[in-house]
Amino acid sequence: MSKIVIAIDGFSSTGKSTIAKQLAKQLNYIYVDTGAMYRAVTYFALEKDLIGEGFFHSEALINILDEIRITFKFNEALGFAEVYLNGKNIEKDIRTLKVSQYVSPVATISEIRQKLVEQQQLMGKDKGIVMDGRDIGTVVFPDAELKVFMTASAETRAQRRYKELLERGHNLSYDDVLENVTTRDRIDSTREDSPLVKAEDAIEIDNSDLTIESQLDSLLKLVKALV
Ligand code: DC
Repeated sequence: MSKIVIAIDGFSSTGKSTIAKQLAKQLNYIYVDTGAMYRAVTYFALEKDLIGEGFFHSEALINILDEIRITFKFNEALGFAEVYLNGKNIEKDIRTLKVSQYVSPVATISEIRQKLVEQQQLMGKDKGIVMDGRDIGTVVFPDAELKVFMTASAETRAQRRYKELLERGHNLSYDDVLENVTTRDRIDSTREDSPLVKAEDAIEIDNSDLTIESQLDSLLKLVKALV
């Protein structure tokens, strides 16, 4: 059976990664979470004190981009690949509200996008890949055989993210999470370089009221029709 590239884009917390991971597993494809890569750069910038409350030394970050090496390593127990920064597993460290608060400004920088997009294109060169993000169907793989654009109301998404963060033991309010979701939507959709937009040929799925099973089922049918 021939292998294809599946691009999944959409707003934050639309459940892209949940669906993408399961789809990849069913198809025996590689799954790549590109948000994790932007989060890794943000984590690096925070560690180096290049971004924080009221400041962002973007030029200084651009100057040391060569010091950043992002890799993924499959974790059998978890069933997906965890992200590493210069050899250190940072999968948990990048999922905090703090990293979420600074990642959108970091993702506006063209030099950073260029570096990560190049790496993403290499990862998908042999196809058989499910990649999720904001610009996969528009910039990274404009020729992807299947493009999906996921949406859901901001409240539904904030509720999901809030529950997830609480379960992981984070102490925060629903309002903070909602604020983060709407701020990121705004920055991600209005930035100059590769803004979050639906590719013309993407299939839009509003999953506010859909189960994971039904979404997966529909996507598997779409894939089967293509391979
Ligand atoms: O998918 P996520 O919430 O982990 O992504 C974190 C941020 O990274 C998101 O707010 C915007 C940015 N991002 C991006 O600009 N391009 C991508 N392909 C993926 C993520």
